[in-house]
Amino acid sequence: MKVVVGNRPLLEASALEKSFDYQLFKDLSLSLYSKQSVAVMGRSGTGKSTLLHILSTLLKPDSGKVFLNGEDIYSLKEEKLESVRRREVGIIFQSHYLFKGLSAYENIETATLLAGTKIDRSIFEMLEIDHVIDNKVSDLSGGQQQRVSIARVLSKKPKIIFADEPTGNLDKETANMVMDALNSYIISNNAALFLVTHDQTIANKAQKLYQLENKRLNIR
Ligand SMILES: Nc1ncnc2c1ncn2[C@@H]1O[C@H](COP(=O)(O)OP(=O)(O)O)[C@@H](O)[C@H]1O
Ligand SMILES: [Mg+2]
Repeated sequence: MKVVVGNRPLLEASALEKSFDYQLFKDLSLSLYSKQSVAVMGRSGTGKSTLLHILSTLLKPDSGKVFLNGEDIYSLKEEKLESVRRREVGIIFQSHYLFKGLSAYENIETATLLAGTKIDRSIFEMLEIDHVIDNKVSDLSGGQQQRVSIARVLSKKPKIIFADEPTGNLDKETANMVMDALNSYIISNNAALFLVTHDQTIANKAQKLYQLENKRLNIR
């Protein structure tokens, strides 16, 4: 019988520390629960992207632990970590990597085949790409391409979405639409959102707002 644990966070990070040329952060902890969204702001070079990479399986911290869905991810074998990355985690970057010669639909389908999920057309409607879904990616505008790449990530049905400046290349109206879509996704899928942004308006759409400064995450 599967035991359902009530209030376990989807993401739990403790005592994280990371340095490159200089120390970016130390003793950094964070919890993220189902249906919760957090935004991280902070000056360039403070380590926001590095933190996002550490939380999202891409980069091992110098010390500290990251639990995703209860799993201590950096203690896993590479193969298992790869499977967590593929099934539980959705990562959205400012610049996207779509197959330009394929249609928007085919790009999304490729991701769902790998993740073993079904296409959910409501995601296309939410991101207002349903009318261009059969067009070749190279025929779409930059904003449409970014929304297709977000639809591709959401179609994998990840438990946690990590977004690094996802609206950086979008006009205000489109940026708002994308944020509303991400928020609506996490509510209807019991998922969570970790967002890095420079944009105060976008950050205000998250439930919790942090500033990365002086090597720590401070609540704003
Ligand atoms: N893979 C890496 N190798 C060496 N230095 C890195 C690497 N990734 C990031 N850095 C350095 O870490 C600092 C923080 O980078 P980053 O996390 O991208 O900051 P932010 O996203 O807040 O602008 C920068 O000084 C950057 O040059
Ligand atoms: Mg960055």
